[in-house]
Amino acid sequence: MQKRTLGTSGLEVSAIGLGCMGMSFGYGPAGDRREMTALIRAAVERGVTFFDTAEVYGPFTNEELVGEALAPVRDRVVIATKFGFDIDPDSGAQRGLDSRPERIRRVAEASLKRLRTETIDLFYQHRVDPNVPIEDVAGAVKDLIQAGKVRHFGLSEPGVATIRRAHAVQPVTAVQSEYSLWWRRPEEEVLPVLEELGIGFVPFSPLGKGFLTGAITETTTFAGDDFRNLVPRFSPEARKANQALVDRLGAIAAAKGATPAQIAIAWLLAQKPWIVPIPGTTKRHRLEENLGAATVALTADDLRAIGESLSAIPVQGDRYPERLEQLTNR
Ligand SMILES: NC(=O)c1ccc[n+]([C@@H]2O[C@H](COP(=O)([O-])OP(=O)(O)OC[C@H]3O[C@@H](n4cnc5c(N)ncnc54)[C@H](OP(=O)(O)O)[C@@H]3O)[C@@H](O)[C@H]2O)c1
Repeated sequence: MQKRTLGTSGLEVSAIGLGCMGMSFGYGPAGDRREMTALIRAAVERGVTFFDTAEVYGPFTNEELVGEALAPVRDRVVIATKFGFDIDPDSGAQRGLDSRPERIRRVAEASLKRLRTETIDLFYQHRVDPNVPIEDVAGAVKDLIQAGKVRHFGLSEPGVATIRRAHAVQPVTAVQSEYSLWWRRPEEEVLPVLEELGIGFVPFSPLGKGFLTGAITETTTFAGDDFRNLVPRFSPEARKANQALVDRLGAIAAAKGATPAQIAIAWLLAQKPWIVPIPGTTKRHRLEENLGAATVALTADDLRAIGESLSAIPVQGDRYPERLEQLTNR
C-alpha cells in the first residue's frame, strides 16, 4: 500500500485508511467483536496504517475495539479519534456538543485508556462547538501535545474561518469532512484553504454511506437503529431517483475493469496527493475490494468524464437531517 502525508508536520499514513465506526455504531447492530478484531488486523496485514474511530461511536465501544485490535501492532499504526459530543455517561445518549477545555482533557485521558495507548496520534474535534472559542479548543489540544498525550490536531466538518483561527494557535494536521462523488461541497472553499495552509484532508463516507457501491437500492431495508433511516438522501424516493447516479458510476467502473466502490475511492485519491479516504466496512471481501482502489489509475480524461457525467445527474435529498446539517461548516 502506498503512503501519503497529512499536513506539513509529516504524519505519514497508508493512502487508504479504515473507517471503523460501522463496526460498532451507526449502521445497525454492532458486529461480532472477534470478527471485527480479525477484520482490523487483516487491514494491518494488507498495509493499512490509518484507523479512524471516535469517543461517540458506541459510545466508547468502538474505541475499545480499535484499541484491543491494534494493541499488538501499536507502533506500526496511526490511530485517529475524536472528542466534542456531550455524552450522558449513564445512558450513552448524545446531549449536544461539549468542547470545553476541561472536557477535552477528560476525554483524552479516557480515550487513551480505551485505545490502550500512551499517545493519540490524531485528535479531531468532531464538530465545532459554538459555545467554545476555537482558540480555546486549539489551546487545549496544544497543551495535550506538549504533554505528549496527543501527536496531531484535527477538525471535522469545520468552516474555513474556524480552520484559519485554529491553525493560528495550533497547526492543524488534518481536516475530516464528508467528500465523495455525491457530496462535493468541500471543493468550494475548504480544499483551497487546506492547500494554502498545508493541511491534509480525510474524506469520510467516501462511498456515500454505501450507496455509491450499488449495493443499496430503493427496496433495501435498514435495521431499526441504522442512521440511514433518518437521512433524507436515503428515503426510498430519493434512492429511486439517485439510482441513475449509481448506474452511471457502474458503467464507468465496468469500462475500467473496476467496481463502483473502487472508482469512488480512486476518484478521491486522484483529486489531491494529500487526500486520504477512510472507507468503512464490516466485511473482509469488501475491505479487499476497497483497498484495490489504490491500484486503479484514472487518467485526466477519466477524471473529466467521471466528473462531467456524474455532475449532470442532480442528487436528490439532503445528506443529513436538518438538525445535524446545522452542526457542520461552522
Ligand atoms: N467525522 C465524522 O463526522 C464522520 C461521519 C461519518 C463517518 N465518519 C468516519 O468515516 C468512516 C467511513 O464513513 P461511513 O462508514 O459513514 O461511509 P462509507 O465508507 O461511505 O460507507 C460505508 C458503508 O458502505 C458499505 N460498504 C463498504 N464497502 C463496500 C463495498 N465495497 N461494496 C458494497 N458496500 C460497501 C458498508 O457496509 P458493510 O459494512 O456491510 O460492508 C457501510 O454500510 C466511518 O467508519 C467513520 O470512521 C466520520
